[in-house]
Amino acid sequence: MSASSPLEILKERVAGQQAVGLTRRLVSVGPSCGRFVSVRGRRCLLMASNDYLGLAAHPRLAQASLEAAAACGTGSGASRLISGTLESHVELEQAIARFKHAPAALFFPTGYMTNLGVVSTLATEGDLIVSDRLNHASLIDACRLSHAEVKVYPHGDVARAEALLAQGPERGIKLLVTDGVFSMDGDLAPVPALLEAARRQNALLVIDDAHATGVWGATGRGTLEHFGLEPTPEVVMAGTFSKALGGLGGFAAGAPEVIDALVHGARSLLYSTAPPPAQAAVALAGLELVDAEPWRRDHLHALSALLRKRMAEAGLEVAGEAGPIVPVLTGGAQAALDVAEGLWQRGVFAPAVRPPTVPQGASRIRLTVTAAHEERDIEQAAQALVEAAREAGI
Ligand SMILES: Cc1ncc(COP(=O)(O)O)c(C=O)c1O
Repeated sequence: MSASSPLEILKERVAGQQAVGLTRRLVSVGPSCGRFVSVRGRRCLLMASNDYLGLAAHPRLAQASLEAAAACGTGSGASRLISGTLESHVELEQAIARFKHAPAALFFPTGYMTNLGVVSTLATEGDLIVSDRLNHASLIDACRLSHAEVKVYPHGDVARAEALLAQGPERGIKLLVTDGVFSMDGDLAPVPALLEAARRQNALLVIDDAHATGVWGATGRGTLEHFGLEPTPEVVMAGTFSKALGGLGGFAAGAPEVIDALVHGARSLLYSTAPPPAQAAVALAGLELVDAEPWRRDHLHALSALLRKRMAEAGLEVAGEAGPIVPVLTGGAQAALDVAEGLWQRGVFAPAVRPPTVPQGASRIRLTVTAAHEERDIEQAAQALVEAAREAGI
C-alpha cells in the first residue's frame, strides 16, 4: 500500500533516493579553521573547501567583521530599497566595479541570489536564454524563474550556442549564460568564442565567475583577465564572496543599464534583507587581500599542478586541465562513496559528488586545493586518494 500522509510521502521519496545509493547527510565538520577539520571524531586534512585563497581564516577578515559589527551593529534592518542600503554597501560596490573593471556593480546577499536576480531580471517573458548544460544549479533555477524560453547547449559547444541564439526573438533579449569555471569539473568556459558569438547575435553574455574570481587571471580578476579580455557592455559578470574571497555574498558587475535594471527588478535583492555591515566589510577586505597578497594565487596554482601530476602518475582520471578543483572520476556513485570513506580513514576529508549534482555515471571525488595548504598536505592527500581508489577497485 502506498503512503498517503504528507510525511509518509516525504519519507518514501527520501527512501527512493537512498535505495539508489544517493543518501545525503549533513556531515558536521567542526571545529574548522584553515587546513584541518574534525569529521566524525577524526582530525582530517580538509580537501573540500572552496576557500581557494585561504582567506576565510585570515585575521584581517575577522578583524574587519568585528570592527564593523562593533561600529554599526549586526543587522541592516530592511531590504536595500527600504532602509537597507548602507554606506558600507555603496563603498563595496564601488570597489567591486574597480576590481572587475566594470562601470557599475551591485552587492547581493549570496552568489545564489545574485544568479537568481541577474538571469530572471535580464530575461523574461518573450526573451530567450541559452545556457550551458553543466551550468551551476543557481543558474538553472534562475532560468526556470525567468519565464523566458530556455535552450540548453552541450557543454562548451559554442557553435550550438550560437545557432540557438540565432533562433531568438527579433525584438526580445537574448541571454547567453555560462559558468566561468565549472564547479564540478573545474574547466573554463570558452569565454572568447562565447563573447564573439554573443556579439554577432546581439546577445548579453552572463558569466558566473564564482570559482574564478581571485583565482584566475594574472591579478585574480577572473576568466576575462585569464583570456586577456576586458569587460565590454554586453558582458554581465556575476560572482561570489563565499569562495576565494573568504566571506559571504554575491555581486553583479556590468553596464549601468544592467545594474539599473537589477535595482528595478531583481526580486532576490528587493525582497530580502540587505547583508549586514560586517558581511560587506569582510567582502571589501577580501578584495583588498587579493591585491595585497598575490603569493596566495601563485602558491595555489603550484599546489594544484602538483596534485594533478600525482593523480596522472597514478593513472587516475581527472577532469579539467588546471586549477584548484581536482575532480577524480570514479564512475559509479557507490565507488565514489567507498573512496570518500577510504580517504576519511586515512585522515583526509573530500566529498563524493553524485547525481543529481553530476550526470549519471560521472560520480567523483571533488578535491579542492587552497592556498592554506602546504606541499606535504598535497602529498598526503594524493597518497591517501591513490590507496583509497585502489581499495575501491578503481
Ligand atoms: C558556479 C556557482 N555559482 C554560484 C554559486 C552560489 O554561490 P553562493 O555560495 O555564494 O550562494 C556556487 C556555489 O555555491 C557556484 O558553484
